[in-house]
Amino acid sequence: MNSHALIATAKALVADDKGILAMDESNPTCNKRFAKLGIPQTAEAHRSYREMIVTTPGLGECISGAILYDETIRQSTSEGIPFVQAVIDADIIPGVKVDAGAKAMAGHLCEKVTEGLDGLRDRLTEYAQIGLRFAKWRAVIVIGDGIPSRACIEANAQALARYAALCQEAGLVPIVEPEVLMDGEHTMAQCFAVTEQVLHSVFDQLYTQGVMLEAMLLKPNMVLPGLNCPRQETAEAVAEATVSCFLRAVPAAVPGIMFLSGGQSAELASSRLSTMNAGFKSRVPWALSFSYGRALQQPAMKTWAGQDANVEAAQQALLLRARCNLAARRGQYSAVMDATGSLTPAASTTCACTSVARTKRTGHSQ
Ligand code: G3H
Repeated sequence: MNSHALIATAKALVADDKGILAMDESNPTCNKRFAKLGIPQTAEAHRSYREMIVTTPGLGECISGAILYDETIRQSTSEGIPFVQAVIDADIIPGVKVDAGAKAMAGHLCEKVTEGLDGLRDRLTEYAQIGLRFAKWRAVIVIGDGIPSRACIEANAQALARYAALCQEAGLVPIVEPEVLMDGEHTMAQCFAVTEQVLHSVFDQLYTQGVMLEAMLLKPNMVLPGLNCPRQETAEAVAEATVSCFLRAVPAAVPGIMFLSGGQSAELASSRLSTMNAGFKSRVPWALSFSYGRALQQPAMKTWAGQDANVEAAQQALLLRARCNLAARRGQYSAVMDATGSLTPAASTTCACTSVARTKRTGHSQ
């Protein structure tokens, strides 16, 4: 293991206020999303869709890394460029999802444990040879009547830590993703308590397995009320609860917290991240960033709808979301960006929302 190279990759993934694009939906998940939009559920449709994403002009200005799916890394663009190379050409670091999915847990059938450790060392060696530099493993925790159980939390935490140790051995930065799901009626306080417990268990196991915290990234849920909880919370309350929870449980050595969107709308995911950065960026030890799947891709997928004629409009939709989240990392996202659909770049010296607002007032972009 080359620790310097691993640490440099982890730092590069959180640098310049950029974040990670998760485009690693498994085939069944991708097919479900395609089916809802009337898109054919074929390997060729997956390929065309992912080509639309990775060839979006300017994406690398906002996106530091892309998590690919195994199928994608074996495919090429229509010009014959392997996707891994196309991602590198876009100035984006390529990574890959390596878990084999969350499966019903013996003795705890309402809960899931993520599988995929068997043969992982060999798969990681191949991924590193292909040029991938980081990996992702997702564990799923459900809040419900009497759950999560200690058995579920500990089994998932141990698998995450064993995966992370194998990644670092192979020269890949592990993204450790313990996701407490939003589904349910639970309150934000319940999500706080479960998220804190899960994070303590995960970091205990990471320590036990000897994982180098400086060379990994955490990809967690935000602390939120359940989707069906009658009491929803403001962005300020979510930001406060999320940062307080992570300050209790995430060591300062971790370079970045890359939130998943988990089913939040694209706008809410940007707004909550922005509120967190506006209030706490200078007071927390880690970068507060994003590794969104749906919250980056959904508007683009809808616009694309499987039609070549829609590629350019879909790329504009993707780029808008990427720029909104770059602004969110600066604590500068505003709903104006969505309302105008403006693609005014979020220049480092100018607040993106200010320049969008100026464009709206004057009718001229600068
Ligand atoms: O594992 C889940 C994805 O990488 C993130 O997806 O932002 O749609 O929750 P999401």
